[in-house]
Formats: sequence, C-alpha cells, structure tokens
Amino acid sequence: MNASLPGFPFFHYHQDQLYLEQVDIAALAAQYGTPLYVYSKAALLHAVSSYQQALAHTPSHLVCYAVKANSSLAILQTLAQAGCGFDIVSGGELQRVLTAGAKANTVVFSGVGKTRAEMHQALKAGIKCFNVESLQELDVLASVAKEAGTQAPVSLRINPDVDAKTHPYISTGLENNKFGIAYKQALAAYQHAASLPDLRIVGIDCHIGSQITEASPYLDTVNRLLALIQQIESHGIHLEHIDLGGGLGITYHDETPPTPTNLYQPLIERLHAHGLQSRELLVEPGRSIVGNAGALITQVLYLKPGAHKNFCIVDAAMNDLARPAMYEAYHEIVELKRHTDLPAAPYDVVGPVCESSDWLGYDRQLRVQAGDFLAVLSAGAYGMTMSSNYNSRTRAAEILVDGKSVHLIRKRETVTDLYAHEQLLP
Ligand code: LLP
Repeated sequence: MNASLPGFPFFHYHQDQLYLEQVDIAALAAQYGTPLYVYSKAALLHAVSSYQQALAHTPSHLVCYAVKANSSLAILQTLAQAGCGFDIVSGGELQRVLTAGAKANTVVFSGVGKTRAEMHQALKAGIKCFNVESLQELDVLASVAKEAGTQAPVSLRINPDVDAKTHPYISTGLENNKFGIAYKQALAAYQHAASLPDLRIVGIDCHIGSQITEASPYLDTVNRLLALIQQIESHGIHLEHIDLGGGLGITYHDETPPTPTNLYQPLIERLHAHGLQSRELLVEPGRSIVGNAGALITQVLYLKPGAHKNFCIVDAAMNDLARPAMYEAYHEIVELKRHTDLPAAPYDVVGPVCESSDWLGYDRQLRVQAGDFLAVLSAGAYGMTMSSNYNSRTRAAEILVDGKSVHLIRKRETVTDLYAHEQLLP
C-alpha cells in the first residue's frame, strides 16, 4: 500500500516501508549505518523553484540561500546549479560556497562579527556585498578596502524593531537583539557610509528572525523599510537592492506557514506602490529550502519501560540534532517500517549522550522494537550544521537521493578524525 506523509511530500510509505523519492530508506540505513542524514534533491529543487516563482515578476531578484542551515558541499552545489546565490556568515562559509561552484558575485556576507581577515578574503573573492551590522564595522571595512586598494560594496542591515513572533533564541529583529543597526540610527549610518570613499553603498537589508509562520511581521518590516528608504534616498543615496532576509518557517508539526508566493506577493505590491519596483530584490532563506528536504535516520537500541514513562533509546543524540535540546523544538518521528502487529505505546525518544537534555521527542506514539529504524523529520536545516562531537561521537554520514540514485555526500567521521589535530605530551 502507498501512503503519503502529510506535510512531507517527498517521503511516502510503499508496502509499509518509508521511501524518500524512489529509495527505500531502510536499505540506506542498512548499507551506510546510522545515525544517517538523508536528503531529497527533488525537495531542494522544489523549494528553490517556489521562491523563484514567487519573485518571477520582479525585474531582477536573487535567492541567496542561507548557508548556515546546511552547508554540505553537494547541497550547496545543487543550489548553485539551480540559480541560487548565497548568504554567508564566515570566511569558512565563503570557502565552502566557492568550492561548491558558486559565483562570488552572488554572495552576500552577513553577521555582526566579521574579522579583518574575513573582509580581506571576501573582497579578494569579489562578493556581491557586505551586510554591515554596526558603525564600527563600517569603519573597519573601509580601512580594509583601502588596504586592499578597492571599494567595498555595502548594504546596511537595519534592525526594524518588529516582533517576529517566534522562539526568543531565533528572533533577531527586536531592538534588544544584537543584530543590525538600530532603526533610529539608520539614516545617520548611511550618511556616514556615504562619506567613506572606500565604501560603495549598494543596498539595504534586514532579517527579523527564523521559523516565522505568519506574514504580518514581514509586512510590518517592509512598511518600516519603505519609510526609511524614502528618507535615505532623499539625501541622494541610491539603493540598488532591497534584501528582505530569510526566516520563513516550515511545517514541523501543525504549523501552516505562508508559501513564498503568498508571503512575497503583498510585499512586492508595497514596493510597486512606492515606485521601487525596479530595484533588485534579494531574499535569504535557509530553513525553508532544506528543512523538509531532510531527515535524520536512527536505530532503536533499547526499549526501557518505566513507572511513569517509557524510553525509546536510539543511536542518534543531541550531538547529531541539537534543536530539541536547544530550543525544545518539535520534530516529527516516524517508523521506517510500519508494524501493524505491534501495539502502539508512548515513548520519550532519547539518545545515548549523558545529559537529561539529550532527547529527540517526548511522548510519541510508536510501534517499535529494538533494532527498528526511525526517521526524525524536518532535520535538513540546522541539523548537520549544528552537530558536534560531544561524548566523542563521530558525525553522521549524509546521503542525497535523486530519484532512484543514491549519492554519499559525506562519509561518516571516524574517531581518528576526531583527534587528528590533538597531540600527546612528550
Ligand atoms: N539571514 C540571516 C542574516 C540569518 O541570520 C539567518 C538565520 C537567515 C538568513 C536564514 O534564516 P532561515 O530562513 O533559515 O530561518 N539554529 C536555529 C535557527 C537560527 C537562524 C539564524 N539565522 C534553529 O535551528 O532553529
């Protein structure tokens, strides 16, 4: 029997086995071991095209995928080939996107703490622009550009002081967040930038948070930006592009975020109404490109019934997927094989790491026995990139599925990889 997984269109059950595109995931788990990250290429391309369609009626636009969500080279390569630019936050991410085949002039560099070395690296590569987040950063960037004998393209990240209505740890557009230049200082910051001959002002940007499931914070932000843009341009400073950041949420459980078209259509209309339709429009989505394209596959090691709770102890842990421990995030957990003969029971799904915060899901109804495999869904974004080696656990392998084809895109780490840079005392 075939059955789709509601909310996860690239996963489906075929004869009670979970498939990703045309691949039986249990066969991958058996061949490559667990914990294992699996991604669907079709899901990545579908997500990119939904952004490209949403922006299709603007004269020029660029979808700058936020690399921090998932920076595996083959993922970046797939997105570069699909026409994405990139939003990076470190010299390391710059090196990754260039290695994956990105064109430097499609890269925007965000982040509050860029170092001089990173600025030099990015200027040398020829990136599209620096999203500058403070007045001091403007001065340092100007001095680095002077040293390099070039002009640095800059956009100022404005903190619009709007509530993104998301988890406080992933909210970034409020006045008390460390991000961006305060709305009230923005005009003065642009005037200062314009006075520095080693900088070239190219745009304006903002990013108000992540896993945003409503359109209204974006509308508030655009309204605030429009007023500011008019002010800035009335001082003779021209902005070639407007970057609306990322942050669009995905379905983890029962969230119903807007589609890119539903989100951006009204925003684009607002730009039109203000005569700004000719400006290049940039967006920086991360989670909504990769989140639901991936899952973390894990094997049940032990079932441990308790007086108050049953534990399902699996071989993936908080070092593989930190989101539940860090944000109390919900990820759907499903069986790779649907047992019709086992009774369903409630379990806390936990990992082997020695911390009580090492859990992947609380109180889940599962039909499982030791040795079975589970899929932790929506794990494509902020899964592998936030993984660690805590408890000397090796990082998982990663697979990209493309129709019937299976590509190993990252080998499982070995323990000797973990201490390769360490030294014993003489
Ligand atoms: N642009 C900037 C400047 C950002 O800081 C971020 C994310 C994005 C774009 C992409 O946002 P997205 O479209 O992925 O929501 N680790 C957290 C999420 C942290 C997001 C940080 N900034 C989590 O696992 O939920």
